[in-house]
Amino acid sequence: MDFRPWLLKTSDAPPAGPAPGEDLVYASRAFDDSGWRLLDLPHDWGVESPFVQALPGETGKLPWHGVAWYRKRLHLTAADAGRRIVLEVDGALSNSAVFCNGRLVGGWAYGYMSFQVDLTGCLQAGADNSLAIRLDNPAGSSRWYPGGGLYRHVWLTRTGAVHVLADQQFVHTPEVSAEKATVAVRSAVANSSPGPVKAAVEVEIFRADAQGRPVGAPLARTRELVHHLKPGALQTFDFNLKLSRPALWDVKSPHRHVAVTLVSQGGRLRDRVDTPFGIRQIAFKADDGFHLNGRRVALKGVCMHHDLGALGAAFNVRAAERQLELLREMGVNALRTSHNPPAPELLELTDRMGFVVINELFDTWTQAKKPQDYHQHFPAWSEADARTWVRRDRNHPSVILWSTGNELHELGMKMGPAVSNRLANIVRSEDPTRLITVGAHDVESGFNGFQKTVGVFGYNYKPHEYARFHRANPTLPLYGSETASTVSSRGEYHFPVTDDKAGGLTGYHVSSYDLYSPWWASSPDVEFRGQDQNRFVAGEFVWTGFDYLGEPTPFNDDATNLFNFHTPEARARAAEELARLGTLQLPSRSSYFGIFDLAGFKKDRFWLYQSRWRPELPSAHILPHWNWPERVGQVTPVHVYTSGDEAELFLNGRSLGRRKKGDGEYRLRWNDVVYEPGELTVVAYWKGQDWARSRVVTTGPAQLLQLAADRAEIRADGRDLSFITATVVDQAGRAVPRSKPRLTFTIDGPGELVATDNGDPTDHTSFKSAQRHAFNALALAIVKFKPGATQPVTLKVTAEGLAPAEVLLHPR
Ligand code: GAL
Repeated sequence: MDFRPWLLKTSDAPPAGPAPGEDLVYASRAFDDSGWRLLDLPHDWGVESPFVQALPGETGKLPWHGVAWYRKRLHLTAADAGRRIVLEVDGALSNSAVFCNGRLVGGWAYGYMSFQVDLTGCLQAGADNSLAIRLDNPAGSSRWYPGGGLYRHVWLTRTGAVHVLADQQFVHTPEVSAEKATVAVRSAVANSSPGPVKAAVEVEIFRADAQGRPVGAPLARTRELVHHLKPGALQTFDFNLKLSRPALWDVKSPHRHVAVTLVSQGGRLRDRVDTPFGIRQIAFKADDGFHLNGRRVALKGVCMHHDLGALGAAFNVRAAERQLELLREMGVNALRTSHNPPAPELLELTDRMGFVVINELFDTWTQAKKPQDYHQHFPAWSEADARTWVRRDRNHPSVILWSTGNELHELGMKMGPAVSNRLANIVRSEDPTRLITVGAHDVESGFNGFQKTVGVFGYNYKPHEYARFHRANPTLPLYGSETASTVSSRGEYHFPVTDDKAGGLTGYHVSSYDLYSPWWASSPDVEFRGQDQNRFVAGEFVWTGFDYLGEPTPFNDDATNLFNFHTPEARARAAEELARLGTLQLPSRSSYFGIFDLAGFKKDRFWLYQSRWRPELPSAHILPHWNWPERVGQVTPVHVYTSGDEAELFLNGRSLGRRKKGDGEYRLRWNDVVYEPGELTVVAYWKGQDWARSRVVTTGPAQLLQLAADRAEIRADGRDLSFITATVVDQAGRAVPRSKPRLTFTIDGPGELVATDNGDPTDHTSFKSAQRHAFNALALAIVKFKPGATQPVTLKVTAEGLAPAEVLLHPR
């Protein structure tokens, strides 16, 4: 058996499965897999398992590592003879090996990269064929929860022998104005038939509908180019098309077009590839940030890991779309796909919804962050990964920068510029239209020459260095590639409230006053100041939009971040705390960095970012909640996030003073409020005029449950999801802030409870469980219909001592 090197690397690492060779029986065509579980892709085997600390130091506490096999029977009809059949895997974690009828035909090491395997020479027409994929996901290979399995879509594409190579399409817009645009289309056509062919190739441009499909009559069309292709030949064709008064792609109005490449032979159409694209112009200016279609667009961005909370890494379009909708509500217009290429469908969504994207390739280059991470593949695979990445994603108008990596150790090493230049040259050879960037943690890499290897420089957590960087590099554009890393648990508030960023910890929760962060990071306000004092900075990418699985800083299992988190004094306190615990097996499963928690519920700083990023939207938000029976008579600070510039706070009708935001201030604070139950009201002003109001009241005891679906009508296709929020309320229907009753969800009808969550980073209840505690009044249920269902589904929630609730979902 011909083993490729990537199969041999990892399998002796515990708790990986059998060494390659021992389990090859699963690859064979004759193997009887009738006893195997039937499942749908995308699939993440880690997230469906119970929480368990399988290995010390692995964050996320879900068993995502090891060896797994997937098998599929493929029936080909006699008509498939002579067709080219290609398997496309959008992502497989990781070290995949693909076997066709028992033969190793391909595979890929990097779990975040899409890859193709040509099955033509192996599959038999008119017969049953077997496809088997072996994955080997090594422990110690990721700083966050990566997931395990065929966690993105897998496709089989059949074409004729004369075909367009979809992965080689390149569509861009070298000239763009309101009056006209030039669209450059490069297409590659191959002849895999045994004889020579005369192929005619042409391109048409259409407007795209919401799904990116062509609509209406073509807006432009080329003449046919005719070419004689020898057997096995591949020919590239370049076209330029002119459009007048083009509808531009923009974050505000993301108009899309489609380039359709048609290849025919003797007047008969043989193949067609549709490439959605956008007509837009991007530029980074060293002294004025990012420009889209000629105007400055401040990057209001968040970093996002790829997991989808309770769904794990298994990609789901609706779950990603929901995240984007919530981010949009906050004013986000930009994403950084930290620290790996996203699912292809995510870029479809950002194209369609109007977000710009920094598409990131790697978290490591040649130097390890974890013993089994990508550094071991870098020498052999980085070129293939970089080329495949750019070819896959270069037609998306939303992609504005290629980030070749995050916080690389090489930034501080002599070899750094050489490695960076090598990757940059590969990227540029596939796409000369976009600039290259990295996320840099190392201050000096902005001054020691490394910065010259990129077209746009990204600093992680360095607002205090922006001015110095710009003085030293007046022609190099700059942005905050990672900012804030403020940590909090939704709805938890700890006292006394200190401004020491190492504070705010009680038990395994972090206080939600949005003042706390690891030592390298800050509250949101500090970054805002850095941005406002340095207008040349193109914007920021907050770490992170949503909480994610794993990396529960400051409560990581190896305790390093618990120590790092603190100043020297606080570090001593942390050491005592750890000694008391006597274990490094800390309980947290998910991060505290998100502006949204893992379930997608808003933490307080949602309103802080919204007040900054949507200044035109009147808003006022009060924190904390006002249910503190044990704090009567004690100082309980109140903070207000508002898009106004001034506000007055009232407690039970008494004014506690009117405050104005000073220069470089982004929140209003009443630090000496003495708690008494009742009602806190805020009246916000903008330039002296009434602007927004809100209030927080002391609620009664929990009495009822409420259910609200984000969408009560969803497609019955087994994929579309409804996200249903359960809220614990008092008699008057007000959410009871600190309530944590145990809830039970039941489904009636042709649906499935896919997962539940509550956003509590310490909750070890399996995401598959129908029982779960509410966390500070809220819990989430995710429901789908069985494919083809026509009847409605009822989701019911019950809890001891509380009136139950139901919600009805309809198939569409
Ligand atoms: C950065 C790193 C991120 C995440 C973050 C937490 O240094 O790039 O991946 O670990 O810190 O603050």
